[in-house]
Amino acid sequence: MLNNPNTATRSSDISVEKVALRYGTGEGAVLALDGLSLNVKKEEFCVIVGPSGCGKSSLLYLIAGLEGRTGGMIKVGGRPVSDAGADRGMVFQAYTLFPWLTVRQNVEYGPRRKGMPAAERNRIVDHYLTEIGLAAFGSHYPSQLSGGMKQRVAIARALANDPEVLLMDEPFGALDSQTRHAMQQLLLSVWEHSKKTVLFVTHDIDEAILLADRVFVMSGRPGQILADLTVPFERPRDMDLVMEPDFIAMKREILGLLKNNGGH
Ligand SMILES: Nc1ncnc2c1ncn2[C@@H]1O[C@H](COP(=O)(O)OP(=O)(O)O)[C@@H](O)[C@H]1O
Ligand SMILES: [Mg+2]
Repeated sequence: MLNNPNTATRSSDISVEKVALRYGTGEGAVLALDGLSLNVKKEEFCVIVGPSGCGKSSLLYLIAGLEGRTGGMIKVGGRPVSDAGADRGMVFQAYTLFPWLTVRQNVEYGPRRKGMPAAERNRIVDHYLTEIGLAAFGSHYPSQLSGGMKQRVAIARALANDPEVLLMDEPFGALDSQTRHAMQQLLLSVWEHSKKTVLFVTHDIDEAILLADRVFVMSGRPGQILADLTVPFERPRDMDLVMEPDFIAMKREILGLLKNNGGH
């Protein structure tokens, strides 16, 4: 079985092959991505770091099916991506909750759209509100919540849809560092329980190493994968890890790659 050449493809949940993305045409065209390939295995937590403008968000949009690629192939769960689908949940940096819906209604949105019966919907919503520590806030509106709380609801909303993969674009970028650390721990614990496949973008290298099974380092635009680094640290991990020599060595390696390939 180990020799089956299809095994690698089947166990890989996100497969991006030689993807190119050009915005616009003619002189104003921007080649955002060019020949980018990566694979994320089922239940793996992978993090992308790269210089600003290298195409990280663009790549997530392509995988989410929110943007059309210029070339290459993207598959999620073995199926080619052509448009947006409930198998891919996305969490953005900006808080994207529906302001006119309560916390509960926001989390319930996906299951309701799928036509899920109320009893099952309630069970799922209760589960994720508890998981993110906001069980008591179901009837609050987003405007009544802090940034960190809104982002927790956004994560619960994405998970309630039961996506195969979770795509996260600098979800904690706007949070203060203390809240960000709490959110990292929360996300790791939710991930341990839900075992989703995660592709997470950040420009915070500490965050990348703390969270990831593997870190992809991207080059400057047009974005390509410069390095695919396996993070060797055991889980659970906490913030103390950032002071360990092995952690600092890995951080230095990533910084070196970014420094030498910051853009064209
Ligand atoms: N809709 C768009 N139209 C034209 N250019 C775009 C568009 N979106 C992004 N770009 C350009 O594509 C490049 C990659 O953008 P982006 O994916 O947002 O990078 P990152 O998330 O790594 O900062 C940037 O140069 C950006 O200016
Ligand atoms: Mg971005």
